[in-house]
Amino acid sequence: MLMSIMEKGTDIAKAAEILRNGGLVAFPTETVYGLGANGLDPLAVARIYEVKQRPSFDPLILHIGKPEDMTGLFRNPDDPLILALSGAFWPGPLTIVAEKQAVVPGIVTSGMSTVAVRMPQNELAIQLIRTAGIPVAAPSANLFGKLSPTMPQHVQKQLKGVDYLLDGGKTSIGVESTIVSVSGNGITLLRPGAVTPEQLREAVPGAIITPYRAPETEDSGLAAPGLMKSHYSPEKPLYIFSKLPRQIKPGSGVIFFTEKGDAKSKAEETIVLSPSGNLLEAAANLFTALHDMENNPFVQRIFIEQIEERGIGVAIMDRMRKAAYRHSTGQQAD
Ligand code: TXA
Ligand code: MG
Repeated sequence: MLMSIMEKGTDIAKAAEILRNGGLVAFPTETVYGLGANGLDPLAVARIYEVKQRPSFDPLILHIGKPEDMTGLFRNPDDPLILALSGAFWPGPLTIVAEKQAVVPGIVTSGMSTVAVRMPQNELAIQLIRTAGIPVAAPSANLFGKLSPTMPQHVQKQLKGVDYLLDGGKTSIGVESTIVSVSGNGITLLRPGAVTPEQLREAVPGAIITPYRAPETEDSGLAAPGLMKSHYSPEKPLYIFSKLPRQIKPGSGVIFFTEKGDAKSKAEETIVLSPSGNLLEAAANLFTALHDMENNPFVQRIFIEQIEERGIGVAIMDRMRKAAYRHSTGQQAD
């Protein structure tokens, strides 16, 4: 595994200074690691795209340190739906997309009139953003289309050109935030995450909620341009199974949802996401397991067990299908 040389530590003041000076800081959130830059500085944001090798049509999330800071970013911060959602879920894994103010640079939103904002819950992230005193634009800190990072080593494995890596250990939730867009008297779910549709309904009882629809083609009609069919992919073929074949080829790695006794002996490496079958624990371990399989030189292909699509299980299966998509169709995402 190639690790790039990247300064790593827990120096918040230094990381904040780098952000203020137009540099790049990778930092932990409760979901995944983000690759942060000053969200109001177009040149700094441009470096994110360069380091991630991300196509410029994919807009970024602005991370704020206090809920009130959304007032400078959203055109209608007093919108009752925005107030209800931010009040219920911030700090936390919910990203709100709504009409933006002129101060938000076009490079953050890919020229769209809306901006995505969230206040993360991770203590290091909050301190970093507050100390820097600016909204921090941050996509997940991985190369475009590749596995999301849930540990600092995952960031080091993929990215070059990051000025500082704030080390917060393993992230607690493990899948990216739920994204909703707000317009008129309704909200639309753009990406499933830890905040479930049921929780959203409770927070905004009167609102029309348009459910999440997985994309049907590679790039048609995308409400969120980055939400493609193929994403989060490991470097090795990945297959989702409900029942493991009796004979698996040598060189196979198997990721089980729960403990499965005898199947273990057949595989090169096996990982259990949650021995007790806890979906939250499985989500927290999902990307770490895929990274481990990607790093194991004896594993040539990965099998992963499907799980129940309930609660955060919807987000887990969404990520798994996208990670497996190019292998199930023979298509290369990059
Ligand atoms: O949990 C998370 O959300 C992590 C951490 C770092 O906060 N961030 C993250 O960022 O997942 P990223 O860039 O990997 O995914 C953000 C998604 C993209 O798919 C993008 O298309 C969508 O948010 N997005 C951003 N701005 C949008 C907008 N104005 N309208 C619709 N979708 C938007
Ligand atoms: Mg991402």
